[in-house]
Amino acid sequence: MKLFTSVVLFGAAVALVSAAAAGIEGEISFEYHRYEELRKALVSVWLQCPTITRIYTIGESFEGRELLVLEMSDNPGTHEPGEPEFKYIGNMHGNEAVGRELIIYLAEYLCNQYQQGNETIIDLVHNTRIHLMPSMNPDGFEKAASQPGEIKDWFVGRSNAQGVDLNRNFPDLDRIIYINEKEGGANNHLLQNMKKAVEENTKLAPETKAVIHWIMDIPFVLSANLHGGDVVANYPYDETRTGSTHEYSSSPDDVVFKSLAKSYSMYNPVMSDPNRPPCRKNDDDSSFKDGITNGGAWYSVPGGMQDFNYLSSNCFEITLELSCDKFPSEDNLKTYWEQNRNSLVSYIEQVHRGVKGFVRDLQGSPIFNASISVEGIDHDITTAKDGDYWRLLAPGNYKVEATAPGYLTVIKKVAVAFSPATRVDFELETLMERKEEEREELMDWWKMMSETLNF
Ligand SMILES: *[C@@H]1O[C@H](CO)[C@@H](O)[C@H](O)[C@H]1NC(C)=O
Ligand SMILES: *[C@@H]1O[C@H](CO)[C@@H](O)[C@H](O)[C@H]1NC(C)=O
Ligand SMILES: [Zn+2]
Repeated sequence: MKLFTSVVLFGAAVALVSAAAAGIEGEISFEYHRYEELRKALVSVWLQCPTITRIYTIGESFEGRELLVLEMSDNPGTHEPGEPEFKYIGNMHGNEAVGRELIIYLAEYLCNQYQQGNETIIDLVHNTRIHLMPSMNPDGFEKAASQPGEIKDWFVGRSNAQGVDLNRNFPDLDRIIYINEKEGGANNHLLQNMKKAVEENTKLAPETKAVIHWIMDIPFVLSANLHGGDVVANYPYDETRTGSTHEYSSSPDDVVFKSLAKSYSMYNPVMSDPNRPPCRKNDDDSSFKDGITNGGAWYSVPGGMQDFNYLSSNCFEITLELSCDKFPSEDNLKTYWEQNRNSLVSYIEQVHRGVKGFVRDLQGSPIFNASISVEGIDHDITTAKDGDYWRLLAPGNYKVEATAPGYLTVIKKVAVAFSPATRVDFELETLMERKEEEREELMDWWKMMSETLNF
């Protein structure tokens, strides 16, 4: 990840002038943003809310456009111990334009509401580190947007500039987890011993590689990937176990994922409408219920980003389809914003569910990479650098276990309400410490025995 300097300074001056000229400060202007305009829009937010925002780039597209991220938090640029991290990624398919715009509007909205003293938004920004990436495929978007006329082709601009479909380009970890399920093996962080293979993999597009590094570098807890072409919240797994085209493919966190997907769909009146006609007459929406669908039940996607997040990191990701039209005319953008605004905010709030806390040793030092397991859910979470962890869970009673090599395992019973997350800290004793204690106990016993028996 590199710091965003020259681009910002150049952009800042331009944005200052244009923001002042247009008088748009504090308002959202519902229009499409080409690459330069997207940069300016993010810089405007940064200028308006400099204490809670930061702009950075995670790398470049094939044609050299920056993969820009706007971060929002009370301490931009740093991971605060205990504070969960969230991301939205838009426009992975370059011609699916609504998500790209909604993420820009969301950045503007959060900044405006924060400044106007909206308590909900202030709480959210103070307690969450939010990363907003409007476009993962800026080259594809430019290609799609360059077509003349209002009506855009269904495919032009979907892939990156090399012709790679980025949502089929991630390492296919589903195949590995499906083998591990049968034969035993890791149930999380499946990329752990494959990092070199990823670096050397020439099939990975630069956009994919940049996002993989991003996922590995930041302890994300929750994420959504914004698409278009249909209207539904889609959750893992996307790739079917048997390879068949349609098959319900549950992950160990099926209950949590359904609840997360619903937290988006239920605030979107179109997505949750049981009588919504399919986008196109012959579309098969039979797997949609309450505005959500399992990915595999809809259609199998190997090499997707959603399952990659879940299987390579602690991050839970869902895929949001936001509009029947992939690139609707500009007059509709305000309506899409109104349909999705509450959902976009509600979904970020879900990062504060389940259990969270710290794993430390008896001296109070953080234990990095300890495992958090929940009885009955075959998917472990690991602690971040400060020993902090976040384990998303649906309401219920759970047995949560913390383990780390060289330490004694600790199990705790935990009651989880809908939200906020229940705080559960673990103190782990090393095996050495336990041996020492046992030796001391034995000595005490001997002493007592000798005194009693008057040796
Ligand atoms: C504050 O933000 C929340 C979340 O977006 C929103 O529902 C609410 O209407 C806002 N309050 C005001 C006074 O605008
Ligand atoms: C985390 O722990 C696992 C096993 O407990 C190990 O395979 C892996 O290398 C560790 N990762 C890091 C980054 O230390
Ligand atoms: Zn898409």
